[in-house]
Amino acid sequence: MTYADVYQSWKTDPEAFWLEQARAIDWDEPPTRALYDRGHHVFEWFAEGRLNTCYNCVDRHVEAGRGEQAAIIYDSPVTGTKATITYAELQDRVARLAGALKARGVEKGDRVIIYMPMVPETAVAMLACARLGAIHSVVFGGFASHELAVRIDDATPKAVIAASCGIEPGRTVAYKPLLDGALDQATHKPEFTVIFQRPEEEAGLTEGRDFEWHAFQEGAEPATCVPVEGTHPVYVLYTSGTTGAPKGVVRPTAGHLVALYWSMKNIYNVDPGEVFWAASDVGWVVGHSYIVYGPLVHGNTTVLFEGKPVGTPDASTFWRVIAEHGVRNFFTAPTAFRAVKREDPKGALLEGHDISKLRAIYLAGERADPDTVEWAQEISGKPIYDHWWQTETGWPIVANPAGLEAMPVKVGSPSVAMPGYDVQVLDEGGTPVAPGNLGAIAIRLPLPPGTLPTLWNAPERFHKSYLARFPGYYETGDAGLIDKDGYLYIMARTDDVINVAGHRLSTGAMEEVLAGHPDVAECAVIGVADDFKGQLPMGFVCLTKGVNRPHDEIEAECVARVRQQIGPVAAFKLCKVVDRLPKTRSGKILRRTMANLADGQDFKMPATIDDPAIVDEIRAAVKTLGYPQSGG
Ligand code: COA
Ligand code: AMP
Repeated sequence: MTYADVYQSWKTDPEAFWLEQARAIDWDEPPTRALYDRGHHVFEWFAEGRLNTCYNCVDRHVEAGRGEQAAIIYDSPVTGTKATITYAELQDRVARLAGALKARGVEKGDRVIIYMPMVPETAVAMLACARLGAIHSVVFGGFASHELAVRIDDATPKAVIAASCGIEPGRTVAYKPLLDGALDQATHKPEFTVIFQRPEEEAGLTEGRDFEWHAFQEGAEPATCVPVEGTHPVYVLYTSGTTGAPKGVVRPTAGHLVALYWSMKNIYNVDPGEVFWAASDVGWVVGHSYIVYGPLVHGNTTVLFEGKPVGTPDASTFWRVIAEHGVRNFFTAPTAFRAVKREDPKGALLEGHDISKLRAIYLAGERADPDTVEWAQEISGKPIYDHWWQTETGWPIVANPAGLEAMPVKVGSPSVAMPGYDVQVLDEGGTPVAPGNLGAIAIRLPLPPGTLPTLWNAPERFHKSYLARFPGYYETGDAGLIDKDGYLYIMARTDDVINVAGHRLSTGAMEEVLAGHPDVAECAVIGVADDFKGQLPMGFVCLTKGVNRPHDEIEAECVARVRQQIGPVAAFKLCKVVDRLPKTRSGKILRRTMANLADGQDFKMPATIDDPAIVDEIRAAVKTLGYPQSGG
């Protein structure tokens, strides 16, 4: 079947299409119906089916004879460690940890926060929660105590599972003090923690509250899989929105497995048994979907890589891992290739690494700039497929369905809509525009299986953030166009979310931190185009009357404050004290105007600006920070 056939077959009868895909999953009670319309634009998939995520990702493969196949290959250049975990070993480890959690009272519906780096134990912890029907929430290691505390208060977990430390090139990041800080700050107090001690930096444990990973599991009875309803959340993953409060994206069990399974062959073109590598982090959605659940539900071997594209030890690492483990499909963010290109522009370090098993390279997480795509294609000799999706959807919205039919690549476009997604570009009034015209990218409801049905603890925010602006549609927050061949082009965000090195961040959250500085009267944070990280946050602060401390001191304090409160991942290093901010006559800060100035773009002076002279002041301030990079 061609892509067009499959897309049409979904469109003609979505119920039948998804029920058919659901047959790839093992059910305790198979669904007889796929979609349930609960009214008010709330939809559920496979609500009456019963199943277990861990069973589908682990146990069933052992029962089907894949027990000796590698489930996880752990490759960690930062610790000099490599290990292979078979499906049978994974089953054993997961059942044991689940048993220990169960013995301490963790059960279906309880939340468990996981704050861990790229070690196999993180996947074990996720699967152990899923085995019990407990809802995990993984928090990325680059977030600091405050962000962790916010998530603890929102998810109200019974337990936290953490590692003693993570390893960044050149430094260990002690997680336990960050966790302790978060537990102090949070109002909600989890009952206990389980700490995976790493030899690089062991953590001090608090008697009675903190349990060491191995001791915790000693003598525990292995737990069996608890069947849950199809709509039961397997996890909550927090992502950045417009304000400082992160959004808890809820992932329903059944749709998640059905959609991921479908994507593994049809999009990523791997067969069970083959090696799949997503060089991301388990703290992000790419890690959830394509380091852990997607490859495992499909019976693949997943590579869990603890390192960076460069510096661990050098820019040959990607090629080395692909060659050494026989990777069939590689997925990363464009920024990672920009890092490699910067160090090894001619691809000399590919020499000696046999990457012949690799079929294709997939890019997502941020705009794939044509220079990087063309470079990666030339160096690797493999097709490069850009694809576009979000934490909210959990799997690709627009992609090149290479396992079904490789569509012609148009550089600059992530290609075409996947079955399940009716993608439209809308004008201000919510009417679809003609091909080639810019507008807000929206998806006609219902969204397909696997996508978010709501936000954790925040159904109203879900409605307001995604459904209110264009009735009958899900608003993606991205703007772009669809060409006459149905190829989508992503141009910009329509909100205050920025994308820094493939990491989704909220400028609103950074503004909240800056506003908390005692000398800051008001502030604005924008995203500025950056050759390496795609975008970087840039902050402007106006001081409270009467403050006359040196500006560079205050700027440095602002930078430190964001790092301390949000975390190093915010990459907030550009900050400038200014006399005033450009505003409309009604007092609204003109952030987009500032971003245009910082990017050196031609722009039209907004008719509503209260004082056009401020534009030159901002332009001068941006220049002192070294932007725009092109000097324009
Ligand atoms: N734990 C603790 N700190 C972390 C961290 C983690 N898990 N991840 C990143 N950080 C820190 C970094 O050490 C860095 O600290 P520094 O300011 O002291 O240098 C800071 O957060 C910013 O990190 P990052 O923006 O990632 O920059 P980098 O220079 O360390 O690495 C890349 C740049 C491009 C190599 C890296 O961002 C990358 O591989 N990106 C791919 C993104 C990705 O996987 N996205 C998911 C979608 S596919
Ligand atoms: P996240 O939820 O962290 O995966 O971030 C999702 C956002 O990243 C999207 O809404 C886009 O703004 C951006 N994004 C992801 N993939 C792409 C892509 N292929 N091209 C352009 N932007 C992308």
